Amino acid sequence: MSAPEPARFVPEALPWFAGTPWWPRFSVVEQRTANRLMGLLVNDIFLLIERDLILPMARSAARDPAVQARPGLPERLAELVADERRHIARFAAFARQHGATGELAVARPPAGTALMARLAGLLPTWRALWWAVLATEEWTITFADQVLAMPDGDAAYCALHAAHRGDERRHVAVGSELGLAWDAAPAWRRAWAARAGVALVRRLLLPCRAPRRLARAFIQQHPRWRSDECHLAQALARAGGGADYWRMVLPLGQASAAGQAWRLRPAFAGLTSPIPGWTP
Ligand SMILES: [Fe+2]
Ligand SMILES: [Fe+2]
Repeated sequence: MSAPEPARFVPEALPWFAGTPWWPRFSVVEQRTANRLMGLLVNDIFLLIERDLILPMARSAARDPAVQARPGLPERLAELVADERRHIARFAAFARQHGATGELAVARPPAGTALMARLAGLLPTWRALWWAVLATEEWTITFADQVLAMPDGDAAYCALHAAHRGDERRHVAVGSELGLAWDAAPAWRRAWAARAGVALVRRLLLPCRAPRRLARAFIQQHPRWRSDECHLAQALARAGGGADYWRMVLPLGQASAAGQAWRLRPAFAGLTSPIPGWTP
């Protein structure tokens, strides 16, 4: 009797592999490999967001007098930083348990994006990062909802995201309160910060290197597709850049704090929507 396939990390309908013409040609085992690589990719993106976007934003916000003036907010920000450090360590440990040699399994940030976020964290520019942080924190919650709704998900992957979701709900509340401090800035500075935040979200979440790394990781496990590596990477890039992907990573619906921030704050009016086909 052959061993059962390892359990799914993510719902099958997650865009990328399942959105390419290769998906129906993969065997059941190959589909499961693809599913688990997608789960590792999302973990990597979360790790990068927390390390390169949220921690610099929180450090910069903690120095701002408008944040310090709000009772209890500096303490809640310090808790958020401690939570994110723990999350980064857990995502890195999960990647290593699943065959990654470094802290990341399949993703690598473009050097310019990581540098941009880190430099912004050194300056008193947390307002430029605030909306990006709120939007990406909400993605981590809706993603966990989707993972935990699977009846047959991998137990360790589900436990990782259930614990993460609990902390992230508190972080979205901190992010919404930071928005009130954001409103204290002059209108010209808010307009600039909204523009920079949306540009950063697009850059951070655009999967520019991941398709090649995903295709290579997949073919290491299933060498019969070696001659198709380049085409598979191209198809993954097309699926990764599509509207389905952006709707998944930026849940800006009516219930979303980041979506409401966009709709209610004049600084966002007239900006190009980060999601193809999305209108606020
Ligand atoms: Fe986190
Ligand atoms: Fe968070």
